[in-house]
Amino acid sequence: MKEPRIIVAMDFNSGEQALELAARLDPGLCRLKVGKELFTAAGPGLVEKLIHAGFDIFLDLKYHDIPNTVASACSVAAGMGVWMINVHALGGRKMLSAAREAITPGTAKLIAVTLLTSMDQDDLNDIGLQGSPEQIVSRLSLLTQDCGLDGVVCSALEVKSLRQLIAPDFNLVTPGIRPLDNSVDDQKRIATPSQAIQNGSDYLVIGRPITQAQEPLAALQRINQEIESLA
Ligand code: C5P
Repeated sequence: MKEPRIIVAMDFNSGEQALELAARLDPGLCRLKVGKELFTAAGPGLVEKLIHAGFDIFLDLKYHDIPNTVASACSVAAGMGVWMINVHALGGRKMLSAAREAITPGTAKLIAVTLLTSMDQDDLNDIGLQGSPEQIVSRLSLLTQDCGLDGVVCSALEVKSLRQLIAPDFNLVTPGIRPLDNSVDDQKRIATPSQAIQNGSDYLVIGRPITQAQEPLAALQRINQEIESLA
C-alpha cells in the first residue's frame, strides 16, 4: 500500500464529531488535519486519541510569532507525535530557521503557509507588501526551502509553476480540491484530485467532499482510486 496522499480536514467544533468521523475512516487510506477550530475545542487530548487510533496528524496551527516562541511551540507539537506542523513564512527567515532547529529531522515534517489564498492584490497593497500574490508566493516558497523546511501549503493552481522553482523533494500540500461531481462550497480556485496530482502536488487537503459525504469512507476510496490510477 502506498503512503496516503489525502489529508482529511477535520473542521469540527467538538472532539466527539472528529472521533465519530475518524472511526468511519481508515488510517491506511488518509491522514487527518486538525486545525485551529478543533484544536481550540478539544486540544492535545484529542490529537493523542487520533494518533492512538493509528492516524498521522497534520497539526494546522500556522504558528506566527517571535522566533523563540514559535520554536518552543514547534518543539512541543513535535513532542506530541504529530506527523506535520506548519508556520507562516511571513514570520521571516529567523523565525523559520528557529522552527526548523526546534524539530529533530526525521520526526515531524515542518511546512509553511506562504500567502493566505484569501489575500488578493488589494490586501497586499493595504499592508504594504510589494509584488503580485504569485511573486510573493514564489519568493516565500524559496525562502522556506532555503531555511530547510520540508514544504509549503499552496493552491493547486500554483503547484505547476512552483514545481519548476523548487527541489523535487520539497512537499507541496494543496487544499481547494473538489472531485468533479462535488459541490464547490465556498472554494474559488479549485482543482480536481487528478489535476492537483498531475500538476505535482504531494498531498491533498480535502474537507467537505469527505466529511459531509453520506459515506465518508466510500468518498475517500473513490478519490484514492482516482489518483492511484494516475501512477
Ligand atoms: O472543506 P474543504 O475541502 O474546502 O476544506 C479545506 C481545508 O483546507 C479547510 O480546513 C481550510 O481551512 C483549508 N485551507 C484552504 N485554503 C487555504 C488554506 C487552507 O481551504 N488556502
